[in-house]
Amino acid sequence: MAGQHAEEDVARLSGADARAEAARLRAAVAQANEAYHRRDTPEISDAAYDALKRRLLAIEQRFPALALPDSPTRAVGAAPAEGFAKVTHAKPMLSLENAFDAEEVAEFEARIRKFLGLDAAAPLAFTAEPKIDGLSLSLRYEGGRLVQAATRGDGAVGENVTENVRHICDIPQHLTRAPEVLEVRGEVYMSHADFSALNARAAAAGDKTFANPRNAAAGSLRQLDPRITAARPLRFFAYSWGALSEPLGATQSDAIARLTALGFATNPQTTRCDGLEAMLAVYRALEAQRATLGYDIDGVVYKVDDLALQRRLGFRSTTPRWAIAHKFPAELAWTRLERIEIQVGRTGALSPVARLAPVTVGGVVVSNATLHNEDYIAGRDATGALIREGRDLREGDWVQVYRAGDVIPKVADVDVSRRNFDSQPYVFPHVCPECGSDAVREPGDAVRRCSGGLACPAQAVEKLKHFVSRAAFDIEGLGAKQIEAFFREGWLREPADIFTLREKHGEQLALREGWGEKSAQNLFSAIEARRRVPLARLIFALGIRHVGESAAATLATHYGTWEAFLAAVRGADDTDGGAWHELLSIDGMGEVTARSLVTSLNHSSDRAAVENLMAEIEAEPATMPTADSAISGLTIVFTGTLERMTRAEAKARAEALGAKVAGSVSARTDILVAGPGAGSKARKAEALGVKVIDEAAWLTLAGAP
Ligand code: IVH
Repeated sequence: MAGQHAEEDVARLSGADARAEAARLRAAVAQANEAYHRRDTPEISDAAYDALKRRLLAIEQRFPALALPDSPTRAVGAAPAEGFAKVTHAKPMLSLENAFDAEEVAEFEARIRKFLGLDAAAPLAFTAEPKIDGLSLSLRYEGGRLVQAATRGDGAVGENVTENVRHICDIPQHLTRAPEVLEVRGEVYMSHADFSALNARAAAAGDKTFANPRNAAAGSLRQLDPRITAARPLRFFAYSWGALSEPLGATQSDAIARLTALGFATNPQTTRCDGLEAMLAVYRALEAQRATLGYDIDGVVYKVDDLALQRRLGFRSTTPRWAIAHKFPAELAWTRLERIEIQVGRTGALSPVARLAPVTVGGVVVSNATLHNEDYIAGRDATGALIREGRDLREGDWVQVYRAGDVIPKVADVDVSRRNFDSQPYVFPHVCPECGSDAVREPGDAVRRCSGGLACPAQAVEKLKHFVSRAAFDIEGLGAKQIEAFFREGWLREPADIFTLREKHGEQLALREGWGEKSAQNLFSAIEARRRVPLARLIFALGIRHVGESAAATLATHYGTWEAFLAAVRGADDTDGGAWHELLSIDGMGEVTARSLVTSLNHSSDRAAVENLMAEIEAEPATMPTADSAISGLTIVFTGTLERMTRAEAKARAEALGAKVAGSVSARTDILVAGPGAGSKARKAEALGVKVIDEAAWLTLAGAP
């Protein structure tokens, strides 16, 4: 339904048709709300959503009897998923790095050898097991009793679903001869057979059916009423663990065997592999078996088998170095590209989006896909090389779409033989469709960007949405829909305005349709609760280009406090200075990210917005991973040859213990670890009076991994 025509034919509807139509629209809006607010996966565009609501409102205005008190036209967004208590995981629940082909798996294996200093001939075993397409769960047992079950949430804090999982038959309630404290982690899923039966029952009862087993499992587990969960056939595979009072074994395989012996369902396809060839053979075998396994898997997970090596390899901010998910190729489908629309993101990027005739791809209905940028539409990549043999994409074309895991669908190819004779190449706009500013493409950048900065309403609103998103400020009751509404009112322009909302617009909000004293108070309490936020969330919330969750976490741990971070970024404006080099020396910090940070916080319209924000809130200092270690907070430089661990391992170990690792010696260096062959750095350290130690002394400081 085209947006501007949404209300037009309402005047011609009969009373009976209007009633049916209103019911259909209410259901569609409720479904869109649900997808947007509860599952964070919008199913329709904002424009389509607005059109649905406008049409419903038009019907309600013409037939007031149809304007039910709980109509979505009276509510702002969906009620937040209240009711589950929050659980802070004793150990964070991490995700996995992905590999999409054998070459990336080979690189993973080679990276591990390099990190550990193992040559190609040294034995290195892995386990390979199916990657279950469900949702992860952490189960805590104390004295053999199940005391708590929590969803992953954002990895640090999840939801308490203990009562719900008591009804999952694969999850034991009591264990015998278990460690005193045992956190078992794994995947909740629904089998194909149970999923079909559940959907058949739902359809017969006129209830909503689920798009795929994963959604069904998630929807069933996150039921506030445990009796509903009990009636849903959920299963569980254990594959990992969190806090433990004693080890489960010396290897991944032993630990899994122990979990099996304790009574957990573990995946029977788990295989120990002696090397790359064996791992890839398991992948091929599982890919062939995929359709007959009886449950959804979306790839194979490889893990270093030896747990002592896992400990040495450790973690990056959100993923372990010792594991990777080798994903199955995406599923494909053909459909019509109806329109190309341009969305303006929070960094001003003009992103083309394909509006598609809805089509099912791998069990999910897809009606939007990303088109990346103007070159992609034209059939070129950033270097000018041809993609799709140079075939461009046009409105009206037949296109092939695919989904890879959870990522947004993409357009892979186009069938030019089905193209209309009068179709025209797509002309990418050179002005921002939202604010009319020039849209500029810098040399070397694949993306055209609106030059309007925070004066562009689309950029401002997207920045605000990002600011309140789940991994950022996560303010309960303040989601994308509310941000849009408040922005339209002129109440919010930049993040600081959120914290003055009560003072400036509190009374107006309480009077607003769909709100009231109580809901306004709830929102203000939720906002107040965020006047102090963890530093990593704050840095991520700023929405600086290239600074995602993981870079934000790394920066927070490195600098510790907002003041130190800001001083460093301000100082790094001078690219000859120490602050710039320190920024670049941080593990995982590339030059592009560093430049983006410096530009955004020193020179752009963001600078003032950040200052305004910091007048309202404060950042909780980041705790170093092991704050009480002997080297926590110290700056260490390594030089010369290390014989017992590689340079990468030494750096990761020092950082895990809360130290900073720098590339060059300065007056701020606390310790220089000098192996054989140390040269100028050792001399400089001596001249500056910096403490110099050898590898043996370093190993004593760093302790066993
Ligand atoms: S291991 C520290 N093993 O995949 C490693 N994860 O994309 C923790 N998953 O969040 C994960 N099957 O929910 C592991 N055999 C398996 C898995 C698996 C499915 C999920 C898990 C994780 C996600 C990462």
